[in-house]
Amino acid sequence: MKKILQFTALYIASFTTMGALPAWGHNSVFLNDKPQVVISDLDKLQAVGAFLLSRDESTNLGVAQLTPVQMNRISNATHFQGKCAGFEVLNSEETSASGRVLQDLITITRKLVAVSPIKLPDVQFNQNYKDLATAANPQGLLSEIQWISNYPTRFNRAPQPNAHVEELKTRLETLLADAAWPYSITLIDHMSTKQKSLRLTIEGRLRPKEIVVLGAHFDSINQSYFGSTLAPGADDNASGAANLIETVKILMNAPQPERSLEFFWYAGEESGLLGSSEIAKDYKAKNKSVIAVLQLDMTLHPGNGEQIIGLLSDYTSPWLNEVFSKIYSLYLDASFVSDTCGYGCSDHASWTRQGFPAAAPFEATTRTMNRLIHSENDRINSESSLTHSNTFTKLATLFALTLGNSNLKQN
Ligand code: BES
Ligand code: ZN
Repeated sequence: MKKILQFTALYIASFTTMGALPAWGHNSVFLNDKPQVVISDLDKLQAVGAFLLSRDESTNLGVAQLTPVQMNRISNATHFQGKCAGFEVLNSEETSASGRVLQDLITITRKLVAVSPIKLPDVQFNQNYKDLATAANPQGLLSEIQWISNYPTRFNRAPQPNAHVEELKTRLETLLADAAWPYSITLIDHMSTKQKSLRLTIEGRLRPKEIVVLGAHFDSINQSYFGSTLAPGADDNASGAANLIETVKILMNAPQPERSLEFFWYAGEESGLLGSSEIAKDYKAKNKSVIAVLQLDMTLHPGNGEQIIGLLSDYTSPWLNEVFSKIYSLYLDASFVSDTCGYGCSDHASWTRQGFPAAAPFEATTRTMNRLIHSENDRINSESSLTHSNTFTKLATLFALTLGNSNLKQN
């Protein structure tokens, strides 16, 4: 019976506007050497001869216990098609507490239906914002990506998982020494990893309790089979992390925002969204008012051509995606194409699961994105484009100014 209910829930989720599957956690594919319970496409599970625990033909979804070899086979086949892992792992807590998982899913599914159709956001053009965004600097971006990706690894389980985090803290302190507005920089400890997240808060002048979040994961990973542990992660995700640093530099020339801006450089994303999920749960528990969340993950490789940006439509807010579509048309030469990961592929999913509006624009589409991520070859190379990545600094700046200085809010 439980199984049938679980599949009813899967069925509902796959046909909601967002297709969000709340409360399911993620574990990195290669980090465990024991069988795991996963959700994936039924045909993929059958192709590797998986032992199916449950199935639903109409949605082509299945739940199965996979051996590590079967997980690698699905992952390889999915990467070949231009997607990422290709399945979601249920953690032990979620596997055994399927009743709660189901209840969460039903609650959020009902909420999604209730807010649909969305009220279109009224985003107004502002010449000052355009001038500030024009100051985005590809050379500055390059030097930030370089120092970040020069670390041999930023893996959350490396012997020194916080060296790069400490360095960013020092750099931000220097950068902000003569900031005109009040701010604070905090290292955030986590239960699930020794790596820390870093938060920079620019306090809001009029409505400090209303929070606009800009985030990027700051860790990296090497998932190759050949023993190398080098993980420069230039694209994934020194690029997004550097866009946020560049955005802070631009905001030094802007007045104090009306709402608070919180910049996050998250820990342990590559091991299952570790830092962001703890933070988003904590914010939910404290009933914080998070107005909007921007996630920047991979901005350096223009797989569909420069200025063509992918915008994830799953695990994100239709309202916030509409805000972005307005920002593109009002301010940027860029255009965007809608795409899906099919699972919670980056930290925006942690916020979406807690009910906060999130968006995730990225370098290309999942078909054309950088194939060299998670290897020692994720470096700046001849295919990298700083012009392309620079557009994301502009985007983040326009997001911070537009949402930080208005009453825009998802209803
Ligand atoms: N940057 C990748 C994935 C990604 C792809 C983000 C396209 C945004 C758009 C991210 O760092 C990653 O590797 N995610 C993992 C899943 C995570 C839950 C461990 C993946 O996709 O396999
Ligand atoms: Zn990654």
